[in-house]
Amino acid sequence: MWSIVTDRAKRDGGWDADQFFASGRATIDELWRVADGLGLPAHRRRALDLGCGLGRLTRALAVHVDAVLGLDISPSMIEQAQRLHAAGQVPAGQVPAGQVPAGQGVTFAVHDADDLRGHPDGSFDVVCCLLVLQHLPSVQAIEGHLGELVRVLAPGGLLMLQLTTALPPPVQPRGLRARLRLRTRLGTLLRAAGVGPAVLARVLGWRPPMPMTAMPDERARAVLAASGARVAWACPRDLGGGERDCIYLVTR
Ligand SMILES: C[S@@+](CC[C@H](N)C(=O)[O-])C[C@H]1O[C@@H](n2cnc3c(N)ncnc32)[C@H](O)[C@@H]1O
Repeated sequence: MWSIVTDRAKRDGGWDADQFFASGRATIDELWRVADGLGLPAHRRRALDLGCGLGRLTRALAVHVDAVLGLDISPSMIEQAQRLHAAGQVPAGQVPAGQVPAGQGVTFAVHDADDLRGHPDGSFDVVCCLLVLQHLPSVQAIEGHLGELVRVLAPGGLLMLQLTTALPPPVQPRGLRARLRLRTRLGTLLRAAGVGPAVLARVLGWRPPMPMTAMPDERARAVLAASGARVAWACPRDLGGGERDCIYLVTR
């Protein structure tokens, strides 16, 4: 859960599952309220959550639409998303406000592709992609994904999108930082050679590196416009230390 929402205070098992899923409901409900004020989406049949992780936002979306599909590149995330969803289901009729009744259309699947081929144009009324695209290796890869997210969005649909728009400039590490970087590199080499992550964490204090890619706001808007989409609302945020992001509500 910490690798999904990297709250400093929740490191090393600090997230409680109820709080974790409540954070997803708070995010989706707030964005839904804003979108509703904009008259979006036109229909509430199918939603797609790309990069769904453990289903934090997928399950929150299920309250607002008939069916939601969560896709993630990581088989272990999907396996845990399915397990957590099954464990969290409660029988219809005993459903606390804001929770998904058992059996309601939530589906998770592994997705390891650069595009959304297999999903026809305009096949989702709602598309969600929050806290994901910064993990792609290049701006070009983010551009390709933006085009695909817009392509599968129905006319009058709602795309909830978040992008990292700026990152702090890289610093040349010295002293302790340089030693830590060497340790990270050694750990990454040993991981590639097949040593398990738990062993590396115990012996080396290794954590997998988390590379980040930013796409500036002007570029994002140009790519979305070229794909036929319109930004209906945007919330730029200063995350401190030179890092910025923006949440967009987009339609076409
Ligand atoms: C920080 S988590 C966010 C998960 C979820 N969106 C949330 O906010 O709870 C990022 C997720 O994106 C997934 N991911 C990264 N690259 C991806 C890609 N190219 N396609 C699909 N999923 C991807 C990761 O496996 C991870 O589960």
